[in-house]
Order: sequence, then C-alpha cells, then structure tokens
Amino acid sequence: MSRLDSVIRRLTAQRACLDQAARHIADRDGVVLELGLGNGRTFDHLRTILPDRAIYVFEREVRAHPDCIPAEERLFLGDVLETLERAAETLAGRAILVHSDIGTGDSARNAMLAGDIAERLPPLLAPGAMLVSDQMLPLDAAVPLDPPEGVAPGRYQMAVWNGAQGRV
Ligand SMILES: C[S@@+](CC[C@H](N)C(=O)[O-])C[C@H]1O[C@@H](n2cnc3c(N)ncnc32)[C@H](O)[C@@H]1O
Repeated sequence: MSRLDSVIRRLTAQRACLDQAARHIADRDGVVLELGLGNGRTFDHLRTILPDRAIYVFEREVRAHPDCIPAEERLFLGDVLETLERAAETLAGRAILVHSDIGTGDSARNAMLAGDIAERLPPLLAPGAMLVSDQMLPLDAAVPLDPPEGVAPGRYQMAVWNGAQGRV
C-alpha cells in the first residue's frame, strides 16, 4: 500500500468513526472534547456534524488553518495532561464525546500518552460517553466497539465508557 493509500484509509476511518459517534450521542446531552487540534481538520468536521454542541479543544500550540481556530473560551492551551485536569474543574461529568488524535510516529510515546490521558478522563466523562481515538485509551470501564462498516479493525479506535452507571 502506498503512503497515499495509507493516509486516505486513515482519514476515511477517522471520519467514519466520528460520524458514527455523532449519531450515537444524538439524543444525549454533553460537550465534546477534541484532544489535538493539529491543522483543525477533525475540529472542523466535528463542528460541521455537531453544530449545536460545545466543542472544547486541547492543544499545546495552535498552528491550525486560520478558519479552524476555536474560540478562546473553548480552547485549553497547554500540555493536555495539565489542561485535562484543569478542565475537570468546570466540565466534570459533561463530556459525551472525546476525540483524541495526538499520536506521533513514536509508538512507545503514544502508548504512554494514551495511558496518561486515560487516567485523567474519568472525572470529565458523562455516563455512556463515546471515545474515538488514534490509540486505544486504556480505561477500565471502556467497552470497545466494532469499527463502522468498511473500516478495518484497529485502524481507528471506538469505545463506550460504561463507568459511573453508564449505558452501552
Ligand atoms: C495529529 S495532530 C491532530 C490532527 C487533527 N486531528 C486534525 O485533523 O487536524 C496532533 C496534535 O496534537 C498536539 N499534541 C501532541 N501532544 C500533545 C500534548 N501532550 N498536549 C497538547 N497537545 C498535544 C500536537 O501539537 C498536534 O497539533
């Protein structure tokens, strides 16, 4: 597979998972957390498919497309491990969808960061929250979901958080 094919498959999987997660939370209250703004592609997609949701973005350095920069009051600027803890002071129990896409080419670093993020998520999560991520987030109460049709298993991760009396 060429690198172009690989990128296309990854982005197609990412979009399919976000679309499925958006449908899943349609009848649920709550905010969205976008971990890793990057150039703003998935932030832009989320705000397009979820126009009525508050989307909070976590990013250490904003370098997004100028059209895809979140409002200051919806941006947690800094290291995600610190800002998730800060966010829990105002958003405790309110996140119904978390999208985490902050991996790099370093798989050891990615696994460690995913573990550190997972440790900080439970105080923020609403029961039944959807977790969509580039790396599996190792949360005890997270139940992995099958990928959407056409997405190969393992290409992108989806789970439902079943903690705090959640529903699957
Ligand atoms: C792969 S990009 C995100 C791409 C984005 N989903 C998009 O569609 O454009 C990863 C982003 O995560 C950010 N990031 C990585 N580690 C971080 C950390 N520890 N704290 C905050 N942001 C981090 C990077 O700065 C980068 O912008």
